[in-house]
Amino acid sequence: MRNRILILDFGSQFTQLIARRIREERVYCEIHPPTVSMDWVRDWAPRGIVLSGGPSSVYDEGVPTTDARLFDLGVPVLGICYGMQLMAHLCGGRVVPGKREYGRAELVVGEPDDLFEGFERGERTTVWASHGDHIAAAPSGFKALATTSDLPVASFRSLERPLYGVLFHPEVAHTARGAEILSNFLFRVCGCEPDWTAGSFIEESTVRIRTQAGDRHVICGLSGGVDSSVAAALVHRAIGDTLTCIFVDTGLLRRNERETVERTFRRHMGIRLVVVDASRRFLERLDGVVEPEEKRRRIGETFIRVFEEAARTSDTDAEYLVQGTLYPDVIESMSVRGPSAVIKTHHNVGGLPADMKFKLIEPLRELFKDEVRNVGRELGLPEELVGRHPFPGPGLAIRVLGAVSKQRLDVLREADAIYLDEIHAAGLYNDIWQAFAVLLPVSSVGVMGDSRTYENVVALRAVTSRDGMTADWFPFPPDVLARASSRIINEVRGVNRVCYDISSKPPATIEWE
Ligand code: XMP
Repeated sequence: MRNRILILDFGSQFTQLIARRIREERVYCEIHPPTVSMDWVRDWAPRGIVLSGGPSSVYDEGVPTTDARLFDLGVPVLGICYGMQLMAHLCGGRVVPGKREYGRAELVVGEPDDLFEGFERGERTTVWASHGDHIAAAPSGFKALATTSDLPVASFRSLERPLYGVLFHPEVAHTARGAEILSNFLFRVCGCEPDWTAGSFIEESTVRIRTQAGDRHVICGLSGGVDSSVAAALVHRAIGDTLTCIFVDTGLLRRNERETVERTFRRHMGIRLVVVDASRRFLERLDGVVEPEEKRRRIGETFIRVFEEAARTSDTDAEYLVQGTLYPDVIESMSVRGPSAVIKTHHNVGGLPADMKFKLIEPLRELFKDEVRNVGRELGLPEELVGRHPFPGPGLAIRVLGAVSKQRLDVLREADAIYLDEIHAAGLYNDIWQAFAVLLPVSSVGVMGDSRTYENVVALRAVTSRDGMTADWFPFPPDVLARASSRIINEVRGVNRVCYDISSKPPATIEWE
């Protein structure tokens, strides 16, 4: 058996979180649909299996299920919520509808061993429940390990086989000691080793990339963002100079962005880097365009043209293209929830068309964002690249509201840099998901010295978020906003008013356009 955990996804909104928690314990795991065959599971040879929660009831029609032979492999299985109900159902227990429990519940530990090692007998601990059905009777040969006031069986184990279940979510932060329960499953029950680290990932993927690319030429589009930067650094470590990176300066970037990329990749890492200054071309295409989606369309199309031309001229032999696809995208594309449940994020401007005739190298396909950051740090990338906030492909063009011009981009770049400077100085950058300035398409009246001014308004935005799908505005200490505002008005010519955006998403979006 290999030192890794298989997670079968029954459609819970928390499945990715289970994977992240297991990776945080430094154990490698992957999420797969429950339709995988028993032969596949045997070949994959996990040291343990987790059945995720899910929205279904075991009695509904056409619900996701699993082959009951899974329980006879001799591999430990942990069923979570629906996963536990399914285990109970398939092993002959009695699952009944009703007794809904959502939110906080108090668990009473009956058997402080295995999953509950380290707990006291009779100890009460807060857990996060979300289930409709419950287990009225455990299957024969199973024993209850914990209860709640409503549930006679909130956790169980089989006395004959290594099968375990919990009717709550140990993976969510609201379950006070959930991490301990998962860690007990990984290390005590499954006997896993905590060997999944950024260093081990880099070693393994270096070998894999070398095997895949051999001595063939590879190109990579660098955007200055975390994913493409880490992907490029990793591929460079594996194959060195057969990699050529292309960075398109769209003229829509933040202050010093191009310089940071050139310094890091060309000078420090010695990567072959082609920088294409296409800012004039982008500005011309954007001339007079006001409608946000039209801006996106023109920028996307121009980007593809510029990238293709640069790829054709800088490395005529290139066979492979590096892409910074991450694990959440991979999971979503094979989710049992189906594509309808996936709210699509914006197509990144760096996303190149399939007909480019390159074979793909996607070295980050197995990683979550925080793991990508750790790999980047381990590869020696500077914190200013690795820890930076997400930045939209269309760049500052969707933050200069209305028509875009070089002059308006420059005003915004200055204001944005001051704002981020103050956030860094206050030590708040890493508490925020994304922070940026927006230049509004209106003028406002002010007074400077003895004269009346009629100038630009800048809005500041900062949000907290887990994945960009929903977001809350960030509650700054007032003095940080005060400093940012007075510096912007004093130092950026053409701005006489600063506002702070206090809208959450939904109903607003993170970007203004
Ligand atoms: P919204 O504004 O939809 O943004 O709440 C959610 C996240 O997506 C980013 N974003 C984009 N990224 N191309 C991108 O690559 C785009 O056109 C685009 N629009 C928004 C946004 O910065 C936030 O992180």
